[in-house]
Amino acid sequence: MRTIIITGVSKGLGQALSKALADERTNLIGFGRTQGDFTGAFHSCDFTKPQLAASIFEQALAQAPLEESESVVFIANAGRLGLLQPAQNLDPFEIEETIAANLTQSALAASAFLKRVQPLPIPKAFLQITSGAALPERPKASWSLYCATKAGQEQLVRTIAKEQETALHPTRFVNINPGVMETAMQEQIRQTSPETFPDVERFIKLKEEGRIPTPDTIAAEIAKLLEDPSALENGKTYDLSQ
Ligand SMILES: NC(=O)c1ccc[n+]([C@@H]2O[C@H](COP(=O)([O-])OP(=O)(O)OC[C@H]3O[C@@H](n4cnc5c(N)ncnc54)[C@H](OP(=O)(O)O)[C@@H]3O)[C@@H](O)[C@H]2O)c1
Repeated sequence: MRTIIITGVSKGLGQALSKALADERTNLIGFGRTQGDFTGAFHSCDFTKPQLAASIFEQALAQAPLEESESVVFIANAGRLGLLQPAQNLDPFEIEETIAANLTQSALAASAFLKRVQPLPIPKAFLQITSGAALPERPKASWSLYCATKAGQEQLVRTIAKEQETALHPTRFVNINPGVMETAMQEQIRQTSPETFPDVERFIKLKEEGRIPTPDTIAAEIAKLLEDPSALENGKTYDLSQ
């Protein structure tokens, strides 16, 4: 059996991954506020409450029978765009919650995962689902919290990848940029006014031209990468954007 842990399993890419990866040789563990149709072991968890999320991660990972697993992979997928508004229109709760749901979630997950799997001499990987919004050349007006937290997640992963180079039983840390996918996030983007987000037309056009892949298409690509987690390149960003 292999073990795959996914955050944000109720919809979008997390739901598609849960379906693509579910089979008789996989022990699936999920985290999120809602379970949806997720069929694995589900742990209810709101990442805007970091202290609580940390103890839920810790307890769930302690219970998981990883010693019997042939490999273990954590996919930090959950995320939110947050309120798309210029910085002067963001309130402190929005700032705190979006950073917590994105960047703090990843830091907590990586730390809890490593604590648990450090001694295990099996293939281990931590996949961060990132975004083109993390790239230095792609800041987007009204997306400051999203762009900043996705950039933070990418560098968090590259930094921990460096640490793992000298670990006795290293865990591979990689970023995965899934590219644009037709999920609730895209709907939220398309509903933004051009005054708030001048680039919105580009996203509307992508949809009209049928150029946005489904999350199932991207999940299938990620499932292929996970057929052999020991072949993942530590510290690499895999660009799956289409
Ligand atoms: N869609 C795109 O075009 C696109 C492009 C590039 C990158 N991405 C990245 O892909 C990943 C998945 O995005 P998606 O498009 O699939 O988004 P989505 O459809 O909005 O799904 C987001 C998932 O995250 C969970 N989540 C959100 N806030 C949470 C919180 N506070 N606590 C716990 N779970 C929370 C949601 O579950 P609950 O609501 O049940 O908690 C949901 O399952 C994200 O990391 C995103 O940044 C997406």
